[in-house]
Amino acid sequence: MTPESKSTHDAEFDARNDDILIWVNGELVHKDQAKVSVYDSGFMLGDGMWEGMRLYDGVWAFFDDHMDRLFNSLKSVSLDPGLTREDIKALLDKTAAANGMTSNAHCRLMITRGRKAKPFQHPALSRFGPTVVAIVEHSTPSAKVQGKGIRLASVPQVRGLPTSQDPKFNSHSKLNCVIACLQAEQAGADEALMLDPHGFVNTTNACNFFVVRKGEVWTSTGDYCMNGVTRQKVIDLCRANDIPVFEKNFSLYEAYGADEAFLTGTFGAQTPVAEIDGKTIGTGEKPVVQRLRALYKDLIAAEVESQKKR
Ligand SMILES: Cc1ncc(COP(=O)(O)O)c(C=O)c1O
Repeated sequence: MTPESKSTHDAEFDARNDDILIWVNGELVHKDQAKVSVYDSGFMLGDGMWEGMRLYDGVWAFFDDHMDRLFNSLKSVSLDPGLTREDIKALLDKTAAANGMTSNAHCRLMITRGRKAKPFQHPALSRFGPTVVAIVEHSTPSAKVQGKGIRLASVPQVRGLPTSQDPKFNSHSKLNCVIACLQAEQAGADEALMLDPHGFVNTTNACNFFVVRKGEVWTSTGDYCMNGVTRQKVIDLCRANDIPVFEKNFSLYEAYGADEAFLTGTFGAQTPVAEIDGKTIGTGEKPVVQRLRALYKDLIAAEVESQKKR
């Protein structure tokens, strides 16, 4: 990244992250000692699934939604995590507690098919799995990115048909998205705006994408992008608050001419988009993004209350 580059995952610097404890297969290990085998299926092949979740006041927000997606993905690739949802919650809680975290923390939970007997592809060689790692970092999204917004470039790399690698898999292999991000960076932008195989605006390499036009909120059909938990929460919030929302095909033409644009993801919630392909989006006023951010904040507060009552 160049010094001016930004990413939706930029966090404020926090020196405590140099000394965090990481969950590795049942043990809490200092970051410097946290290791997996070079034979690990995740390292060798990207054969694993992950989830990003955030901790608010001791509560993993939308934990059930994240587990629904994770367990659906694991089942689809016949990867037995050897853990229940309750086990996962317990290991995340233990990791957060060991690091003294209750809020402003972000986890990357990773489950791979585990260590292989030989350095080859066949899943039957993954005999010692799974590998389960949870990295939980102190994390406050960068105020600069949230304020100024992100610069996107449309790129040739697409998130494609479910018949190649279903874009709904939050797989360890992110090469498709990494290629897209490199293309955007080389075009002088922060992140990539990826189209679908038909040329309609789809998603970014790391977040879901929305535009606002004449008071309406539009996002892609959902056929070619990650089934983002935050994406769905924003759609639900629009529906509950009489904000017209549409999951539909639209092209760069409509994205360039939008009044506002924003990204959604667990990390940054709703991140404004400043530019697409060098074209400034709207006038800089972001009334709908601001309203959605406020509604989302209330939703998180309600989620924390409801999980605490359970
Ligand atoms: C490609 C992609 N799109 C969107 C998202 C956002 O999903 P969520 O809102 O569940 O964090 C992610 C996060 O994992 C992602 O990798």
